[in-house]
Order: sequence, then C-alpha cells, then structure tokens
Amino acid sequence: MQTPVGLLSREERARRIERATRGLYRWYVDRSQAKRAWRVDSSFDWRAIRTDHDPDILRLIEGYFAVEQYVPDYTAKGVLLLRESYGRSQFQIRWGAEEAKHADLWRNALLFAGRWSPDRVEQYAADLRSASWELPWDDPVHIVFYTVFQELATKLNYANLARLAAGSTPETARHHDPVLLAICRTIVADEAAHYAFYLDLARILLTYTPVEALEALEDVMREFAMPAQAIVPNWPEIQEAILRTGVYGPRTFFLDVLQVALGQLGVESRRALRDGIRRLRLVPDEDGNLRHTIAAEVLDVPQLDRDVRRALDRIRQHEEETGLALVDPTLPEPGPLHALIAEPPVKDLVAPNRP
Ligand SMILES: [Fe+2]
Ligand SMILES: [Fe+2]
Repeated sequence: MQTPVGLLSREERARRIERATRGLYRWYVDRSQAKRAWRVDSSFDWRAIRTDHDPDILRLIEGYFAVEQYVPDYTAKGVLLLRESYGRSQFQIRWGAEEAKHADLWRNALLFAGRWSPDRVEQYAADLRSASWELPWDDPVHIVFYTVFQELATKLNYANLARLAAGSTPETARHHDPVLLAICRTIVADEAAHYAFYLDLARILLTYTPVEALEALEDVMREFAMPAQAIVPNWPEIQEAILRTGVYGPRTFFLDVLQVALGQLGVESRRALRDGIRRLRLVPDEDGNLRHTIAAEVLDVPQLDRDVRRALDRIRQHEEETGLALVDPTLPEPGPLHALIAEPPVKDLVAPNRP
C-alpha cells in the first residue's frame, strides 16, 4: 500500500524529488551520449554552407551566437545555486557542455557562412562577454519553470530557422541550405531534450510540492523574458531580423510556448492558474489542507499522474537494464495524487512511505 502524496512528510517529499532528479539525470546522460554525440567541427560539411545568405539570416546566426555566448554564466551560476543537489548540479554541468557546443557551432557559422574575420568574431565575443548574465531567479524551483519556457522558446527559434533553411516552400526557397538545415536540426534535438528534462522535473515538483510549484510557475510566467537580451549590445537589430523572418515573436511565445508548456504541465490555462493562485494567496499558510485542494483543482491531476509515472518508468527501466536497480534503485512510485484533496494538513503529518 503506497502512501498518498498528500500524506508524505516534507522531508520524504524532498527525498523523492532529489531521487527522481538523480534518476532523470543518469538516464539523460546515458541517452545523450548514445544518441546525440555529434561533433562541432566534424559532423557538418562546413565548406559547403552557403556564403550568400540574406542579411536577416546572417543576423539570426549572429544573434544565436550572442545568446549562446553567456554559457559560462548560465552554467556556473546555476551550478553554484544547485550544488547541494547531486542530480541538479551534475545535470547543470552536462547541460552547460551541450550549450557550449551550440556556441561553438554558431561561431563556425559566422566564420564559414558569414565570412566574418577571426578578429571580428573575437571582438564581438569580447563585447558580449564584457557584461555578465545574472540568474533570473535565485531559487532552484523558479529556475526549473523558467528553464521549461526558455528551452521550448529556444527550440522553436531553431526549428523555425530550420524551416527557412529547408527551403521547401515558394516563400522559403531562396534560403535553401542543407548545411544550415543540418546544424539547426542538430541543435533542435538538443533543445528538445533539454526541454523534456526540465518538463519532467517541473512535473515532479508539481506532484510533490504542488502549492510551491504553482506559485513559482505563476511568478515565472508573469515576468518571462528570453535570456541575455538586455545585455547583447546590438539586440534591437537582431530582434528586428527575428520578427521579420518570423522565427519568433509574441504570438509564437503565447501560442507555442506558454500554452503548450502549460498544457504539458497539466495546467489548463493561464487564467485558471492565475485564478487558482489568487485563491491560494487568500488562504493563510497554516491551512495546508485547503491550499492543497486548490492546487489540485488547478492541475489536471490524472494527466500529471500519468506523465510522472511515465518518467519514473523510464528511469526504472534504465536502472534495470544497467544493473543500477540492484545497488541504487529509485524510490517507489508516488501514491495517489488525488489524495492531495481533502487530506489532513501536510505539516501535521510525518508519515514516511510504508512498503
Ligand atoms: Fe542551446
Ligand atoms: Fe538548451
């Protein structure tokens, strides 16, 4: 008999979040090494990339190079914030290594496609790096939700540039470039994997700490902006190219980022979340019971439950295939999430999971 999530002690929930994060991280690394071990210099036919792209396409390449340039900040500041969590901090390092490859890739693209001189690349990189990026939030929970939106938005940018480089419609034919297409598709696969990791992590937080997680989600949604725009010196020109080519914009953000991510997190709409949060904030902290009831009403609990179990199954399968299950198995599945509703206040209970 498994204890319903609503009855687990705070410590037990934290332990399960940490364990699931570690399991996800180990699964992620294993898979990324097996499926996405591409090489910046050798995996693409750099000499064959077009050198006559129109200025907007070159501006996009410049912009992506610029944003990926802050990888030392993205990685280091996250690692320091997350250092106490094995799974989160190790993942952060791995994620940073993948983002660093993107920066290298766009560097090559500027040199080969943009015909930038090495001096010009160095000068631009130095200008960019004279400012440093700061974490948009200073706690690990907000960072998860921020990164969910950021990774999905990044993936869409690259997927839309891929669509232009594919050149398969009359409107995009003039951008046709198989090398640029291969580059974009490769990065899209990485960004999709990053998004999937953070999405699972966010779902795990929503499962074990729904009130805190929903509050963080709402905070992040209210203030979301893509990283580094404020510190890239020529962002206005880059932004114009982004809007002109249609690779990203406010409409894409609302329809393809916000709504899609919310749906995948089991939150019906922005409005449902906002209303739920307003009600949550009217209830004093002591009444854990009522707060959890409201949280469960905002979430599509059966969907969340299904998605979290799917992630845990994936981890478990990895552990069984590799033998890790013998020495370090994941924790049991969460008990019924429905028990978030109408259970006694969490803070009064210390109920470790019973086998
Ligand atoms: Fe990236
Ligand atoms: Fe990414």
